Amino acid sequence: MTDDTVALRVRTNDPAGTQAVGGQLGRLLGPGDVILLGGDLGAGKTTFTKGLARALGVHEVVTSPTFVLVRSYRTSRGFTLLHADVYRLEQLHEIIDLALPEQLDDNACAVIEWGDRATPALGPDYLSITIEYGVGEGERELVVRPVGPRWVARTTEIAAAAAAATARPATAHPATAHPAGAHPAGAHPAGAHPAGAGVQQDTGAR
Ligand SMILES: Nc1ncnc2c1ncn2[C@@H]1O[C@H](COP(=O)(O)OP(=O)(O)OP(=O)(O)O)[C@@H](O)[C@H]1O
Ligand SMILES: [Mg+2]
Repeated sequence: MTDDTVALRVRTNDPAGTQAVGGQLGRLLGPGDVILLGGDLGAGKTTFTKGLARALGVHEVVTSPTFVLVRSYRTSRGFTLLHADVYRLEQLHEIIDLALPEQLDDNACAVIEWGDRATPALGPDYLSITIEYGVGEGERELVVRPVGPRWVARTTEIAAAAAAATARPATAHPATAHPAGAHPAGAHPAGAHPAGAGVQQDTGAR
């Protein structure tokens, strides 16, 4: 890993908060984009994806693809959202058999749970999001790291999206949050969010 890697740390206090982050980051997605989700069992990967899918205009109920491996959803953006879970796949050839790059080429973006297992079968560009448990019951920390030029070029938008998600009023519906560009302040330091949810930027930490 190079020293100029930037990781954003985004804290959430409940599932709605994690869905809001998913929604804001989901708005950055276009065809060919990949998000890799990491974190322990039950950390919130599917919860994140539900918020992301809703923000992309997916009307179907998003459920865990643990057994079917890949689900495909029509978005209102004119491209397809692939939601994969490679937890059960132990061999790299099983992941290669999913043909994710070929599916991405077919006007799709992808969110892949346990995605670090899939990196050898994917291209060099992805947004890595690892969900860590916090101290309190509903607390999570999302470590967001752009990998590859395609995502590193969007670092500012990623930070703004994360800040927009955590700055929302508690009563606001995530789907009605402002687009990332509407927040010129970009990423707030974690201390700017007295409620606990917030964004912090690490440089060269990983
Ligand atoms: N801040 C939070 N963010 C996300 N989920 C939370 C949070 N607080 C509590 N939860 C709960 O944690 C659980 C997360 O489940 P979810 O299926 O999203 O995890 P997962 O990482 O996809 O699990 P798996 O590894 O089995 O696929 C849900 O029951 C959710 O309500
Ligand atoms: Mg899951």
